[in-house]
Amino acid sequence: MSVEPPVTLQQLPADLDKNRLPKHVAVIMDGNGRWAKNQGKPRIVGHQKGADTLKDLLRCCKDWGIPALTAYAFSTENWGRPRTEVQFLMTLFERVLRRELQEMKQENVKIRFVGNLLDLPDSLRQEIDRSMADTQDNQGIQFTVATNYGGRHEIIQACRAIASKVEHGYLKTAQIDEELFEQHLYTQGIPHPDLLIRTSGEMRISNFLLWQMAYAEIYVTPTLWPDFNRVEFHKALATYQQRERRFGKVQS
Ligand code: FPP
Repeated sequence: MSVEPPVTLQQLPADLDKNRLPKHVAVIMDGNGRWAKNQGKPRIVGHQKGADTLKDLLRCCKDWGIPALTAYAFSTENWGRPRTEVQFLMTLFERVLRRELQEMKQENVKIRFVGNLLDLPDSLRQEIDRSMADTQDNQGIQFTVATNYGGRHEIIQACRAIASKVEHGYLKTAQIDEELFEQHLYTQGIPHPDLLIRTSGEMRISNFLLWQMAYAEIYVTPTLWPDFNRVEFHKALATYQQRERRFGKVQS
């Protein structure tokens, strides 16, 4: 990272209650293109800066004691972008992974990619496989990257896998419950997000973690993703801590 966080934000800000932090934060990193346009630069410059922002957020989660972060890097719909932008993003993911893997290993990050990975370029898949294999025993922060990910697609592939088990007699229909369903999602074993942050002001979930987000608190900020720094994250967490989470029940 080129920019060090302000000294005061290297540790959890004093006004936040460390016992009421979200255990899992998910981010929709929107606004890279607009950020670049505002600077008179091509969209890809926004994605490049966005990757730096994500890296600092990961470090910040580690510094502040948040054990899981999931980022929406590329949706199944993003293939509809101009070919040059898609190619740039694929190359960026690959380059960042290659560059950061050593540090992530040292910092005890456990990385997982979720989505339909089979359709990604071979060279990117190799880096993805390597990063997951090399960090699988790490016990530190769980870092999940949704790439070629779509929530509906994830649910359909889980249904197909379960239906196939029923068809072949490995499962009975009556055995299908929420727990079993979750075991067939890409995110199997990762707790649900407590907080979803979306930058750049759009009030949408955009096919992200549809099942997993059932009770997530949603925080939307007009800040564009490349500008989403520790000060902004602090605001999001302070807002989260003011919310009353009832999970469909009444206040106890
Ligand atoms: C949305 O902004 C952003 C993306 C589709 C790409 C996000 C990817 C990164 C930040 C890089 C992450 C790197 C790794 C290694 C995971 P947008 O382009 O839709 O912005 P706009 O709405 O202003 O056009």
